[in-house]
Amino acid sequence: MFRKTRIASILSLLTASLALTACGGSDDSPAWPPTPTVIAHRGASALRPEHTLAAYQKAIDDGADIIEPDLVITKDGVLVDRHENALCILNADGSVKEATTNVADRPEFASRKTTKTIDGTAITGWFAEDFTLAELKTLRARERIPTVRPANTAYNDQFEVPTLQEVIDLAKAQSKATGRTIGIEPETKHPSYFKSIGMPLEAPLLAVLEKNGWNSKDAPVFVQSFEVANLKEIRQKSSVRLVQLLSNSGRPYDFVLQGAANTKTYADMTTPDGLREIATYANVVGAHKDLVIPVKDGALGTPTALVANAHAQNLALHIWTLRPENNFLPASLKGAPTSDPSVRGDSITEIQTFLKAGVDGFFTDDPAVGRAAVNGLKK
Ligand code: G3P
Ligand code: CA
Repeated sequence: MFRKTRIASILSLLTASLALTACGGSDDSPAWPPTPTVIAHRGASALRPEHTLAAYQKAIDDGADIIEPDLVITKDGVLVDRHENALCILNADGSVKEATTNVADRPEFASRKTTKTIDGTAITGWFAEDFTLAELKTLRARERIPTVRPANTAYNDQFEVPTLQEVIDLAKAQSKATGRTIGIEPETKHPSYFKSIGMPLEAPLLAVLEKNGWNSKDAPVFVQSFEVANLKEIRQKSSVRLVQLLSNSGRPYDFVLQGAANTKTYADMTTPDGLREIATYANVVGAHKDLVIPVKDGALGTPTALVANAHAQNLALHIWTLRPENNFLPASLKGAPTSDPSVRGDSITEIQTFLKAGVDGFFTDDPAVGRAAVNGLKK
């Protein structure tokens, strides 16, 4: 009896291990997420103003497995979803350079306008950390790139800036409603900067995950960062899945702050040695798409060894960012007229080319297109 039970349990362990290896996970990782994973970049940001509950809902409706909140923090210590702490950025002449909220039109907040140096760049505008959550909640979201996404401006000034908690609430409610597990892939934005002003992101993030029962490796959560030290810090305290983001140029800003003591670049981190080091603390590499397939002569070129090298270290690979408009596509995939940045091109071919190169997941601004690309390859 004992022998029979033992053999059955060994067989079941072997089966689970084989299944996980086949889907690109490590031997002890859970089966979620499905691969290839469709990750909604800032929500369905091609169709709604980014980082709003409306953008996340649209992404889920359109088939995303995961929604992405980039994270900054309010004056009273609440994590909220913004791509950067600037709520609106001004040009030197005072005109609006880029806005994701209507803060510049709110006279009661005029005195909050200031200039700060964020990751080495001087920025004039309004900043999330100078607003309480209650104040931030009175603002409304706007389309960041109206020339590329003019239809999204119809949604301007309708939606609030969501908190991380509201995004988790949405993911949990929609998991129940759809029967699919909807995960989150939060990114800590400017972690060294926030630490330098005494408002670190990491402890509040782990506290929110803990409160929601999501501070574990089995949770439907991937925490991302372009920096290294804060991921290592989180790994000391949590088993939650971690994503080391790699850009196609430059280096992590926490390395920049170390000066001559650390001259490593993102390029160094893509080498087999660099990936081996990443695997000591992270589960996934979140790579700029050019690091997987560089564009050559206006078309997608030959895949690099990054996918194979990451998998050799048991790291999954997510790429960013696949967007449907001409503005973001290689020349060979642009739609007519190719001079119009807002026209949609052949994003499905772009996505499928990356899937054939073996990526495990991809950030897309239009999850409906992403889902169609995944389904198209299954046929
Ligand atoms: O986090 C993946 C991708 O979102 C990184 O780029 O600038 O859109 O946050 P960014
Ligand atoms: Ca991001």
